[in-house]
Amino acid sequence: MTATQATYICIEQHGDEQQMQLQFGPIPSPGCGEVLLRQTAIGVNFIDTYHRSGLYPLALPSGLGMEACGLVETLGAGVNDLKIGDRVAYAGGTVGAYTTHRIMPESKLVLVPDSIPDNMAAATLLRGMTAQYLLKQTFPVAAGQTILVHAAAGGVGQILCQWAQSLGAKVIGTVGGSSKMALAQQWCDWVLDYNNTDWVAQVREITQQQGVPVVYDGVGAATFLPSLDCLAPRGLMVSFGNASGAVDAFNLGLLASKGSLFVTRPTLGHYTSNRAALLACANDYFAALEAGLVKPEIGQRYALSEAAQAHRDLAARKTTGATVLIP
Ligand SMILES: NC(=O)c1ccc[n+]([C@@H]2O[C@H](COP(=O)([O-])OP(=O)(O)OC[C@H]3O[C@@H](n4cnc5c(N)ncnc54)[C@H](OP(=O)(O)O)[C@@H]3O)[C@@H](O)[C@H]2O)c1
Repeated sequence: MTATQATYICIEQHGDEQQMQLQFGPIPSPGCGEVLLRQTAIGVNFIDTYHRSGLYPLALPSGLGMEACGLVETLGAGVNDLKIGDRVAYAGGTVGAYTTHRIMPESKLVLVPDSIPDNMAAATLLRGMTAQYLLKQTFPVAAGQTILVHAAAGGVGQILCQWAQSLGAKVIGTVGGSSKMALAQQWCDWVLDYNNTDWVAQVREITQQQGVPVVYDGVGAATFLPSLDCLAPRGLMVSFGNASGAVDAFNLGLLASKGSLFVTRPTLGHYTSNRAALLACANDYFAALEAGLVKPEIGQRYALSEAAQAHRDLAARKTTGATVLIP
């Protein structure tokens, strides 16, 4: 490899981690409205494993990855708001963040405040914006409410719990295993091990049989149906992820019999679909970081060339907090 080459992860086929090949190629040039980024840190998200496996199919061959931080190195024609050297981040949009150099549309980039390090922006912007829309837009959490958050030691879970507490909510978090319980106790009022306890009964006991007004569930198949039994009448089930597998079709009548419940299956893209919404969401997250309302842990760091190991660890539930690749 020479300094004139980009290094990136590519998959030719969907499948396991062995499909992730390190490749080298020319550094691309930005088109109209685009910039070339020299990336300094790359976030790893659970969705990257779905893109790799084919649960969320891609046009192949393809890169992987949804978020990163970097410096603007070259401006394409018609770029008005950014300049060379600006430190920017992105989360979402097209797949292909696992690379040293990337072309991005100016419209998808946000400036990173000086106080936020590259690793933090790269590894947590997607999850931070997810927590922002879940807590403030999907279901505006209010002081005094008790809420349930699954996978509370995970990337989204950690930010969601910390931010909810700063809003004055009480948080019941679920985790798998005792070491994660100790971790999640830092940002949950109650931590339940959903691998070893009757967590539904415990949630009902904590809430004096009233149930919670909202469940935030990124785990999916394993937790969806039991979570309905944790909700108060007219409560909202927010099923935002599939870490244990996709939620199957279910009898809609369950929502009536369990208390006229609501269900939503939101995604970040629909909450950041225009420039104003993206900036509002990202800047609210950055402000929460700067104010110390959320203190995400970057639990794992890997070289870009070790991206496959990062995927193995995520799928094996070995990770806590966020994961970053260093190009
Ligand atoms: N809809 C959106 O806008 C949006 C945005 C971001 C993320 N997401 C989704 O939210 C979920 C969490 O994302 P994340 O990146 O923050 O991941 P993460 O929470 O860091 O990792 C997933 C966690 O899920 C738990 N889990 C439960 N059953 C599992 C299983 N069978 N296999 C693997 N993990 C399992 C594990 O925690 P325990 O060991 O404690 O059980 C694991 O650490 C993912 O499904 C992701 O796709 C959705």
